[in-house]
Amino acid sequence: MIEVKALSFSYGSGGPKILKSLSCDLEQGHCIAVLGNNGAGKSTLLKCISRISHPQEGEVLADGGNIYAMPRRELAKKMAYVPQQSLRSHTMVFDAVLLGRKPYIRWDAAAGDREIVTEIMEKLELLPYAARYLNELSGGELQKVVLARALAQQPGYLLLDEPTSSLDPRNQHEMLRIVKEICDTQKIGVVIVIHDLNLAARYCDRFLFLKDSELYSYGGMETMTPETIRDVYGMETEVIEHRGYKLIVPL
Ligand SMILES: Nc1ncnc2c1ncn2[C@@H]1O[C@H](COP(=O)(O)OP(=O)(O)OP(=O)(O)O)[C@@H](O)[C@H]1O
Ligand SMILES: [Mg+2]
Repeated sequence: MIEVKALSFSYGSGGPKILKSLSCDLEQGHCIAVLGNNGAGKSTLLKCISRISHPQEGEVLADGGNIYAMPRRELAKKMAYVPQQSLRSHTMVFDAVLLGRKPYIRWDAAAGDREIVTEIMEKLELLPYAARYLNELSGGELQKVVLARALAQQPGYLLLDEPTSSLDPRNQHEMLRIVKEICDTQKIGVVIVIHDLNLAARYCDRFLFLKDSELYSYGGMETMTPETIRDVYGMETEVIEHRGYKLIVPL
């Protein structure tokens, strides 16, 4: 479990508080959607949890250990983080995904590492791109590659910041289906920042709403209500059920 304890964060000293004493438990075996409007602090929260940013107050524990005191290699085996925007470089796709194995490699990648990478790339339909370069991919193709790298890390916790923002509808569903399947079968903890409420409702089972730098609510499907959506996004919706799925329909 990742325990977020009274986390407060601001960019620079004296700046506005982006997160105000935020506490929550992110449990393994769950797919947790982080929701809230632009600028609410979703990416900042993910960066604090993955040690990219250091909060001024509070702490983050992963399986009981303070992440800010953990050796880098140990943290990398525990958590994989995919940022909202990924850098493109002149790296071959296969090598980029193989980089996910870095925490496990002592000198050189073993056959087992290459096998894991091939399997994940096959699952994400990326094998035809193996010999292409990152800086020659479309936005959606790149997004799939960075997810593949995170999965190659075989983390206990997968932190994804808007992983479907550049994907076409089929790929959005495919990616989230694969992530959910890994969450269910391997009992890892998945935290996804996402704006599409319908995708969140379909693939996630916990919903963490941020509003005005604070935790607005955190709970199961019962928390996805028109009242919450109105309070958090300032938008009127109807929440209906269709074929067993909740659908959020703007009015
Ligand atoms: N490096 C930075 N320096 C100063 N302020 C920042 C920095 N990064 C983000 N902010 C500010 O912090 C607030 C929260 O930003 P954050 O990126 O966490 O929002 P978000 O919820 O992820 O939004 P979005 O949905 O647009 O991605 C915003 O007001 C933003 O302008
Ligand atoms: Mg963001």
